Amino acid sequence: MSKANSSKTRKVGFTETVLRDANQSLIATRLPYSKFEPILETMDKAGYYSAEVWGGATFDVCLRYLQEDPWDRLRKIRKKMPNTKLQMLLRGQNILGYKHYPDDVVRKFVEYSIKNGIDIIRIFDALNDARNLEVAIDETVKQGGHASGTICFTTSPVHTLEKNVQMVKDLKSMGVKSICIKDMAGIMGPKESYDLVSAIKDAVPELPLVIHTHCTTGLAFMTCLKGVEAGADVIDTAISPMSGGTAQPATETLAYALRSLGYQVDLDDKVLIQMADFFKGVRADFIKDGTLDPISMATDTQCLNYQIPGGMLSNLISQLKMMNAIDKLDEALAETPKVRADLGYPPLVTPTSQMVGSQAVQNVLSGGRYKVVGKEIKAYCRGEYGRTPAPIDPKIQKKILGDTPVVEGRFADSLEPEFEKTKKELGDTAKCDEDVLSYIAFPQQALAFFKDREAGFPKKEDPKKAAAPAAPKASDLPPMPAWQGHVYYANVPASAANGVTARPIQPFAASYQPPHLVMGAMDTCPGTYTITIDGKAYAVSVAAADGPAPAAAPAAPVAAAPVAAPAPAAAPAPAPAPAAAPAPAAPAAGETPVPSPMPGNVFKVECKPGQAVKAGDVLVVLEAMKMEIEVTAPVDGTVKSVAAAVGTAVNTDDLLVTLG
Ligand code: CO
Repeated sequence: MSKANSSKTRKVGFTETVLRDANQSLIATRLPYSKFEPILETMDKAGYYSAEVWGGATFDVCLRYLQEDPWDRLRKIRKKMPNTKLQMLLRGQNILGYKHYPDDVVRKFVEYSIKNGIDIIRIFDALNDARNLEVAIDETVKQGGHASGTICFTTSPVHTLEKNVQMVKDLKSMGVKSICIKDMAGIMGPKESYDLVSAIKDAVPELPLVIHTHCTTGLAFMTCLKGVEAGADVIDTAISPMSGGTAQPATETLAYALRSLGYQVDLDDKVLIQMADFFKGVRADFIKDGTLDPISMATDTQCLNYQIPGGMLSNLISQLKMMNAIDKLDEALAETPKVRADLGYPPLVTPTSQMVGSQAVQNVLSGGRYKVVGKEIKAYCRGEYGRTPAPIDPKIQKKILGDTPVVEGRFADSLEPEFEKTKKELGDTAKCDEDVLSYIAFPQQALAFFKDREAGFPKKEDPKKAAAPAAPKASDLPPMPAWQGHVYYANVPASAANGVTARPIQPFAASYQPPHLVMGAMDTCPGTYTITIDGKAYAVSVAAADGPAPAAAPAAPVAAAPVAAPAPAAAPAPAPAPAAAPAPAAPAAGETPVPSPMPGNVFKVECKPGQAVKAGDVLVVLEAMKMEIEVTAPVDGTVKSVAAAVGTAVNTDDLLVTLG
């Protein structure tokens, strides 16, 4: 008796991911509410099992880039979609942030998510440590919500079928109403899917089972199909224009295939067509402004080796571009599985994916493995994220931690309640409990958002959107054949202090003249720049124009010469530019300069001139790749001067602090 035959009339539900995971995986979550609002009422009629619309990175990006209150977004979606179950993704004890929060915060977050309109909360832990799911599941059940317990699928010498089945049983005893297999990297093949679904269905046949995967490696359609054959009840899909690549498989395609195989699919095809038409327009806009990178749409079988989830891959690409080091992508991809093994095989899912990814990038860019280590990786090695699937390499743990002790037991048990205390501290700054939660999850972004809200949302540049200067016409530019190529990024020197690390420039057709386009985009910003053209770095000096210069016709003299070394270090060539912003003076004898180990933003300055410091003391905290990087004193001494200013962008080797 074959499962496939006995399941023929079985119903298969669909979860639409376009507003959350597809949005996050393909366009770095940059879809603003205003852009998708017109389709919500239509979407509500499609007949989905659920629509994933919130959580994951949407919360962070709303505050950080879109000037949107994430809670308000949720309430608006709820109003427009009264008939569809709204779903969110919650990182267990990490809620939507990147560290562990105390239990009272987790409970409040769940409570307000449900109060503002969420029906189903898919809850996962990056390490599959069920202790980190318990509180969120318990509160979801208490609030009358549907808790979907999640297994992060990964392969490693320590991840076995038995281990996964045991976890499902643990989740069931915690009160979940469904189980989700979350294959965030798109590495679960049809065989693994069939075997795992069969095993789980045998163990807990009464719980609906959901398959979540990504098309990254091209396996997703087969994985969903074999999963359904083995008994999966629901699959995650994205409406076709926003499907494929690092996102989910297409809704319409799977609906068609499953129906033709005899399964019951309750989706309204006419509604799906309307949705597809709408999102074709959305996709076109994001391709045009450069947010949707063609690389994210491609099938990449490398992930079968590297286990890079969709979101992580697009994030890695965009971060390397920002650092003018996209040529290091292959090296960073090769370093990733090594870091993962060192750290005890964590599944690569937020936040461990960012941590492993940024550590791999740092190992590649900072000229030595674990030479620069983010604060989060240190916390991970202390055990603050939970039990790792396998032990962390003791040598590396020792190198990272020194003599710092490791946490025993559940880390959240050691955290003091935070909600009421923070609420009091914030006072009038927070207008409601939701504001307090926004602040606890993303303090810096929330404060900036509250300020913007107070000021009526003054126009702000999204670095990703700032990418798209209106392209001057080719006919406006004098020919410069030697420079034809693709300009990806130009680094703005930190000394220009305009708060922009790098200005992404669109790739241009060969008939365009990139240096002129770059100058056109930057001619208000004199200084020395490194421009990468087809992987080669060039130093370019730009002088200030007299009076306002029209963008397409820069009056500034432009000198261009190839630089010997390829991009990332990007030390500006000795500047002939007359109007370049003053560079920090070279340190005198007996002084120790403390340079920035990598490009990023200055998040905190933790020292003052005149202050005595010991080797290892934190001087400056940088924010790079969503991680906090501590820059410490290399020697004992006195702080002579501080060049780093909070909120400014710094590049590799820019002076932060001088010790005397
Ligand atoms: Co996903």
